[in-house]
Amino acid sequence: MSRPKITIVGAGNVGATAAHWAAAHELGDILLLDIVEGVPQGKALDLYEAAPVEGFDCRVTGSNNYDDTKDSDIVVITAGIARKPGMSRDDLISTNARIVGSVTDEIVSRSPNCILIIVSNPLDVMVTKAHMQCNFPRERIVGMAGVLDSARFRAFISMELNVSVEDISATVLGGHGDSMVPLPRYSTVSGIPITALMKPERIEELVQRTRDGGAEIVNFLKTGSAFYAPGASVVQMVESILKDKKRILPCAALLQGEYGHDGIFMGVPVKLGAGGVEEVIELDLTAEEKSAFDESANHVRELIKSLS
Ligand code: LAC
Repeated sequence: MSRPKITIVGAGNVGATAAHWAAAHELGDILLLDIVEGVPQGKALDLYEAAPVEGFDCRVTGSNNYDDTKDSDIVVITAGIARKPGMSRDDLISTNARIVGSVTDEIVSRSPNCILIIVSNPLDVMVTKAHMQCNFPRERIVGMAGVLDSARFRAFISMELNVSVEDISATVLGGHGDSMVPLPRYSTVSGIPITALMKPERIEELVQRTRDGGAEIVNFLKTGSAFYAPGASVVQMVESILKDKKRILPCAALLQGEYGHDGIFMGVPVKLGAGGVEEVIELDLTAEEKSAFDESANHVRELIKSLS
């Protein structure tokens, strides 16, 4: 039996950090692919040279050649440009759509049975673009955003209440953008909803900080966007799939009637297991939450129009 093959397209900060976490969790053999000559090879070799120190038995290789991606089990697409201060994720659309479109073609022609995880921004539009190219069943194509957004919400809740991050769960639905929908009612500390632990005004501030979480990092870094938490978040999805953990994680999945929407990728809780997106879970939403979700969906639909 051989180890699972994980291909990560894009050897920038997000791709390389994802490779790092995936190796540290010993999830499989990792191929880092990029068009820039030397960068994936150099980062992969450097990471593999950490294996004896950290004790992980994964092969880590870098390549500029799509033929090396053949028969991947999971492919994570991080390729594309990142935003600079003052840019929204939406400003990246035309450049990244071109990149994600051609990457998807190259990948699926060599790994027609893989599970695709899209990370490039603006996420909801890029996962749609990848789906247009490959037409995979919804089980095998999913976008990473909700894990990251809810991780940020959890981090802020932890800082606020001075409790372990381990005891905090949070749910963030909708698109990965300014219209995302953090759900305080479904966010808990050891099962206690945060609505019982914090004043509504303070919760609203943390919700807003979550919506602005990506921009907060971009404003600090100035030359790029976040990568540690995005890398860790996508690897949590990879792990749930490869180990068939069936975790319930917020991810961008193709809705087929759920939440009153059809044919659109939106952040919703899904069960991730060996079959990929094994189930889309429908939460009961209040009228206010539902209308925020619909608004987020409308925003994503508008952006998708600009693709064609
Ligand atoms: C963020 C970018 C990567 O949220 O979308 O940090």
